[in-house]
Amino acid sequence: MSASLEVYPPSAEFVAQANANAALYDRADADRLEFWAEQARRLDWDTDFEQVLDWSNAPFANWFVGGKLNVSVNCVDRHVAAGKGDRVAIHWVGEPGDSRDITYSQLLADVSRAANYFTAIGLQAGDRVAIYMPMVPEALISMLACARLGLTHSVVFAGFSASALRSRVDDAEAKLVITTDGQYRRGKPAELKTNVDDALGTGDDAAKSVEKVLVVRRTNHDPKLPWVEGRDVWWDDTVGESSDHHEPDAFDSNHPLFLLYTSGTTGKPKGIVHSSGGYLTQTSYTFHNVFDHKEGRDVFWCGADIGWVTGHSYIVYGPLSNGATEVVYEGTPNTPNEHRHFEVVEKYGVTIYYMAPTLIRTFMKWGRDIPDAHDLSSIRLLGSVGEPINPEAWKWYRDVIGGGKAPIVDTWWQTETGSIMISPLPGVTETKPGAAMKPLPGISANIVDDNANPVTHGEQGYLVLDQPWPSMLLGIWGDDERFKETYWSRFADQGWYFAGDGARYDDDGALWVLGRVDDVMNVSGHRISTSEVESALVGHSGVAEAAVIGAADETTGQGIVAFVILREGVENTGDTLIAELREQVSVEISPIAKPREINVVPELPKTRSGKIMRRLLKDVAEGRELGDTSTLVDPSVFEAIRRKRA
Ligand code: WT7
Repeated sequence: MSASLEVYPPSAEFVAQANANAALYDRADADRLEFWAEQARRLDWDTDFEQVLDWSNAPFANWFVGGKLNVSVNCVDRHVAAGKGDRVAIHWVGEPGDSRDITYSQLLADVSRAANYFTAIGLQAGDRVAIYMPMVPEALISMLACARLGLTHSVVFAGFSASALRSRVDDAEAKLVITTDGQYRRGKPAELKTNVDDALGTGDDAAKSVEKVLVVRRTNHDPKLPWVEGRDVWWDDTVGESSDHHEPDAFDSNHPLFLLYTSGTTGKPKGIVHSSGGYLTQTSYTFHNVFDHKEGRDVFWCGADIGWVTGHSYIVYGPLSNGATEVVYEGTPNTPNEHRHFEVVEKYGVTIYYMAPTLIRTFMKWGRDIPDAHDLSSIRLLGSVGEPINPEAWKWYRDVIGGGKAPIVDTWWQTETGSIMISPLPGVTETKPGAAMKPLPGISANIVDDNANPVTHGEQGYLVLDQPWPSMLLGIWGDDERFKETYWSRFADQGWYFAGDGARYDDDGALWVLGRVDDVMNVSGHRISTSEVESALVGHSGVAEAAVIGAADETTGQGIVAFVILREGVENTGDTLIAELREQVSVEISPIAKPREINVVPELPKTRSGKIMRRLLKDVAEGRELGDTSTLVDPSVFEAIRRKRA
């Protein structure tokens, strides 16, 4: 593979000032647990830990046993106490162009007010709080206020439908839901609070666990916003009126900081549970070293939404625990026009820019004239996350956005891993366009075949994590069996974590992540399961059966392609039906899960045992010659499918 020959060593200039150095790998190799203890001590602990890791109840980990800390104190109070209260924590930019700068002192006051109100309504450590909000400062403040009280937050992406919100609220038995009146969508106010009303229902159908709905005023678009007396309260009237002083308690290192639902191979999303001490240790360590963050000098910008783990770890906990100054942007990259990101970089002097490959490919499509019209010289480091980055996009990113010299950190990790696991270390590791390169110091990964044997360089295999790591998930909310089955059963004898990704080493030993090897799609860096979309489609009264695959897509990485069979007697109304089906998926899951293409076909290709051959559907959707069809009951179904698509 020729791309693997292209190597970009770190520049002498970058090396000279880098936070990380080669000794970090050596120290971690010499004593992994001692290394992690050192990293944990970058945080403030109320009670020191007695043991670095208790793995006796594997795969349930207990990191920093006996230690107690407060995550919000580590992200806010300690910076104020160290005299940095006037430093801007958040340069917030709203979609309509409004903005707010929030210093660490102000953040402390806001988080304290929210914590006082949450306490006043009777919430107690261990209770769950659902946060269904656009990217407004109150979303981050809510997360930190939960952390401060030991309330376990469950952020639900504001693009998810009412039905997706309801299932998450019910699964977690959330007592409080925090939302906004509306949200901006491409320049216009759109509903949000009414989604919450739809989700929570009324009477016999009401979500039983929910006691209060706390509403932040954002769009002010509806003078007659529906209101449930006794349940709904405005943020300004409650949190806004609370005291800005709050004395925090400390919580166990393994206290559940948050739940975050993610798609698996079955229809039901799973609530990934994360810890406090272990999670914060690794998010904080990776932010410092992978992003080479310099306190008081850098301006960091991660373009994720807090609805995803990237937003949790690299908008909230990683940056704030390091006292960073960061940009938080509410909107889409082309509102009001395609210059928005670059104007923000210029205005705030962004130095570290962390985005998804799908966005970089979108910028490429828009053309380099747009970034070239701006002074992006403040940028000194670029990051990529969410899906494999193709070498062309990687080079364009470095040349056009990074001025031909900014190193790129291609960071592989997952909702389950909590923080970055595999990535170059800037100023230390060479980079190659498209490769995640190697596990970070303290992290151990391997690429193995079906029999757990390491693959030779050049061969593809399964990516496994063969040692526990501090920010590893504690489990799946309420389902220990599923946790063991999903991640730990594939290589049960070895006790390895199976990530669900394929990977390979090149001839130089650099690690390339190739994408999912299970029925999980990656669309614009969003993880969506094929079966979730299939069950949404089958939810339409006209559909008898559905098969969904992720087909290669130039911009979004993968695009969702669906094949459906109609019920007996149902008329195929063409575009009307397709529009209905797309809407069905949007309502059941989210607009982000709408199929790019829906094919109504007479039959689906099945094996004799009745399993849908998705691999063959993928061949069809990607326009390839068909693979082996010998196990099919009726190979001629493809003729009909092909005719339909032509
Ligand atoms: C899946 C995890 C990590 C936060 C965002 C997504 C894919 C992620 C990379 C990368 C290749 C990547 C994997 C992984 N992925 N980063 N740098 N190179 N693939 O979190 O929704 O939990 O998805 O995203 O397939 O398993 P997630």
